[in-house]
Amino acid sequence: MFKFDPEKIRKDFPYLNRKINGKPIVYFDNAAMTQKPNQVLGAIDDYYKEHCANVHRGVHKLSQEASGLYEDAHKKIGKFVNAKFEETVFTRNTTESLNLIYYAYALRNLKKGDRILATSMEHHSNYVPLLELKKSRGIEVDSIGINEDGTLKMEEYGEKISKKTKIVTVVHVSNVLGTINKVKEIGKLAHENDSLFIVDAAQSVPHMPVDFKNINADFLCFSGYKMLGPTGIGVLIGKKEILEDMNPFLYGGDMLQEVHKDSWKPNKIPWKFEAGTPNIAGGIGLGAAVDYLKRIGMDKIRKHEVELVQYTLEKLKSVRGVKVYDSLSIENKGGIVSFNLEKLKCHETAGLLDSMSNVMCRSGMLCAQPLVESLNKDGVVRVSFYIYNTKEEIDVLIESLKKINL
Ligand code: ALA
Repeated sequence: MFKFDPEKIRKDFPYLNRKINGKPIVYFDNAAMTQKPNQVLGAIDDYYKEHCANVHRGVHKLSQEASGLYEDAHKKIGKFVNAKFEETVFTRNTTESLNLIYYAYALRNLKKGDRILATSMEHHSNYVPLLELKKSRGIEVDSIGINEDGTLKMEEYGEKISKKTKIVTVVHVSNVLGTINKVKEIGKLAHENDSLFIVDAAQSVPHMPVDFKNINADFLCFSGYKMLGPTGIGVLIGKKEILEDMNPFLYGGDMLQEVHKDSWKPNKIPWKFEAGTPNIAGGIGLGAAVDYLKRIGMDKIRKHEVELVQYTLEKLKSVRGVKVYDSLSIENKGGIVSFNLEKLKCHETAGLLDSMSNVMCRSGMLCAQPLVESLNKDGVVRVSFYIYNTKEEIDVLIESLKKINL
């Protein structure tokens, strides 16, 4: 069995060989982008050096090899979240996956006066498309509120779901507070009302076991670059029968079977939703990332992050004037801590952490302005962890915050 050993894992990540101003990098911006191990970089390099050809467009050997690698990546990634191969569509990122649903499904199936129920902790990518549907189609948009501790006001679902609610959507793990939302329970409420259920899993799939069938979501969206994969590759998992019924989002090569002067016939899923030459290297790289994560084990990754978050919260108590923006119990919290130092603006704190000690974290509105503004009008500082982070690195953060406070 693979023993979780951050020191061994760290050897796979080239960024850790780099020093800036003589000091190592302490990378705590993993909710925005994770680093890449040699295994992922090697898989991308191998595709370009050995198997570089377009997919599904050639009888020659290189095209056959590239198609095989690209299709295998779909299989691996589907299996990783317990979805079927044909339910696994590659996109550019979570944003595109969500937009695909809103453009290809909601725009066609919802009418004026229908409702979409989201939450007050959605990322902009799962909220701005709804505001656009409201503006252009008269779709009503409502949100579930947030308790003081950072959990959702679950009792509001009973009050806000009605027969007009055609879609219920929720972020699985908040990119601001780290709240792990009760997606199974929310999905049950949505389906009892015959609403479509969409889960933004950008901050959950990389960090904990996620099972599409068990959650019983209709759609699950996540990004490759937040789970050791390259940029420009994301995933839309959708129930087979819904994807088969849906119109494509983009039209062009590979998403069709035949074209005649006045008609065309769509390809089978998932290709119906992958028009044009896809990000082949990105898909293969994400397949290698999933191999890497599976070898470690998602339950071990979750356990490691729980330890890091508990350690951070405990150590932050020794720093003067720190405000942490949630009081979630650890079962309900992912590997994310948002805070501020009372005497400084968030960007000042983040800038000083970077310049003093190469502690790299995100600050500002975190692409979730409605929530962040309600916490602090100028934004927050966020640290977010991953497999290669250690308690020693958290000590660097804490010591730096203490120095900033002097
Ligand atoms: N959504 C990403 C974040 O939370 C970019 O930083």
